[in-house]
Amino acid sequence: MTIFTNKSEIQDHISKKKAKGITFGFVPTMGALHNGHLSLVEKALQENDVCVVSVFVNPTQFDNDQDLKKYPRTLKSDVALLETVSKTILVYAPSVEDIYQGNTKAESFNFDGLEFEMEGKFRKGHFDGVGTIVKKLFEIVTPNNAYFGEKDFQQLAIIKKLAQKYNLPVKVNGCEIFREENGLAYSSRNTRLKPDYIKAAPFIFKTLKAAKEKFGTKSAKQVTEWVEKQFAENKFLELEYFNIAEVTTLKTVKRKSKLKTYRAFVAAYADDIRLIDNIALN
Ligand code: PAF
Repeated sequence: MTIFTNKSEIQDHISKKKAKGITFGFVPTMGALHNGHLSLVEKALQENDVCVVSVFVNPTQFDNDQDLKKYPRTLKSDVALLETVSKTILVYAPSVEDIYQGNTKAESFNFDGLEFEMEGKFRKGHFDGVGTIVKKLFEIVTPNNAYFGEKDFQQLAIIKKLAQKYNLPVKVNGCEIFREENGLAYSSRNTRLKPDYIKAAPFIFKTLKAAKEKFGTKSAKQVTEWVEKQFAENKFLELEYFNIAEVTTLKTVKRKSKLKTYRAFVAAYADDIRLIDNIALN
């Protein structure tokens, strides 16, 4: 397994290979890798000659210092896990200095309003941080394809917008949410859940599935009220938001239309761990 920590070294390596026609698939991560990440890596390996995985806990996308401090940093076990998939993967694990060069600040972006919905309301500046790091990583790695999980559906929509607005020569691919057997979406944060909350957390997906069924016959408002009531009765999970939105604008649906595609989104706290999930409704 080749691990790069320096941007000019990986840039040099990739540009020489690309000159020979070799294609690159890219999976950007913040480490603490799990099966959800591995499913993206497998897709990248199927569709490209080489897969690059970046492991970088990006400080500019955290709105909470404690969350940034507590974010798991497990490079050694991440590399070991990646080796179980393929030893040909290139890992880019830069320092904050290598990426930000003394100016650890987010750029300010206009994502045509996508950034103000849902996560954008509750995590101020988060998507400026995501846009900043993903743009930098795309410029360093210059991948043909990049892979992101639909668990962060809003992030995926914003990264597609970023690539389009800046004419970045990369195809941004969304991949289905990878779930544990009990339905809980894989997340690096799951490892921090205490036992009671591990048991409670699958309620999130169970409720999303029930909401999907209700959406067939009920209005978005009725479904939202029903979901809010279910969470109010759950003593382990505190709902931050439940929202039914149209998939291209991510705006909350007021009146359902058969011509539009909707998704339901949820953010909830299990103790001090914030979990998000979503489901396609039609
Ligand atoms: O989804 C993540 O892990 C991060 O937001 C990303 C895309 C790697 C940017 O830091």
